[in-house]
Amino acid sequence: MSGAVVVRAPAKVNVHLGVGPLREDGFHALHTVYLAVSLHDTVMARPGEGLSLRMSGEGADGPGLVPADRTNLVWRAAELLAEHAGVRADADLEVAKSIPVAAGLAGGSADAAATLVALDALWDTRAGREDLLELAAQLGSDVPFSLVGGVALGTGRGEQVSPVLAAGRWHWVLGIAGEGLSTPAVYGELDRMRADGRVPDVTGPTPAEPVLAALRTGSTTELAAALANDLQPAALALRPDLRRALRAAEDAGARAALVSGSGPTVAALAADEESAVRLAAELAGAGVFRTVRAVSGPVPGARPVS
Ligand code: C5P
Repeated sequence: MSGAVVVRAPAKVNVHLGVGPLREDGFHALHTVYLAVSLHDTVMARPGEGLSLRMSGEGADGPGLVPADRTNLVWRAAELLAEHAGVRADADLEVAKSIPVAAGLAGGSADAAATLVALDALWDTRAGREDLLELAAQLGSDVPFSLVGGVALGTGRGEQVSPVLAAGRWHWVLGIAGEGLSTPAVYGELDRMRADGRVPDVTGPTPAEPVLAALRTGSTTELAAALANDLQPAALALRPDLRRALRAAEDAGARAALVSGSGPTVAALAADEESAVRLAAELAGAGVFRTVRAVSGPVPGARPVS
């Protein structure tokens, strides 16, 4: 067994989130396009006796916000990999969070993916890429994407990922709203809105072609026009204040703004890096967000910090 292994994994925004009907297993069929952005959580794994876990940073200080116990996705990732590899789950794990919790940015998924990569190295399990992707899918729909990063099309319930060609790097401002939103609650609200006709019902997820074409061109204008999120009306129904947040982003000069994943983070697309810095400063003073972060992407998935 070697010394400490440090791995970081990125947050994501969904530049397309097409949600199909509810499946029998309780998940929705998706066509989504994930884009990994430069806001990272870090997992440090050291040799230990049994498992221990400490959380620090963004969202980790509120009582019970991120439980550092076996219900934590990090803990489950460690146990799953140990079982798969036939080794004892011995490790001392420390998660330093920058990605806010329950924000629609896949922070928990990033932590789980980083843990798989870190413990694969610490325990020398030599799990192949395919094995890690399969374990990741068992942990959560977004975890495989957190492993691969970049830009990827997600199908199935989002766990089947394939890389997508993207010819650019885009600058975003993430506006993080005060309180988190529960992902199942947002999906549930969408089901109700479809059932009572508040939004059109669907027979399958909206295809991602327009956003895929925009990503290939590298153009910010085309990407801005193609951004789509079926969960947005549901997130807005549960959190009407987000409407004001979206408007604030557009008024402040964003090329487009949308709710990230199940929310409540607002992802505002900026024209370029300089505009992103300006936009971030303006939105920080607008009084609608708890925090704002200027980020860019695509960036790579979970990988060791050298
Ligand atoms: O896979 P994950 O644990 O991230 O999913 C959390 C919850 O989000 C699920 O239990 C389900 O309620 C909802 N979900 C869904 N359809 C998906 C992904 C997630 O309904 N494709």
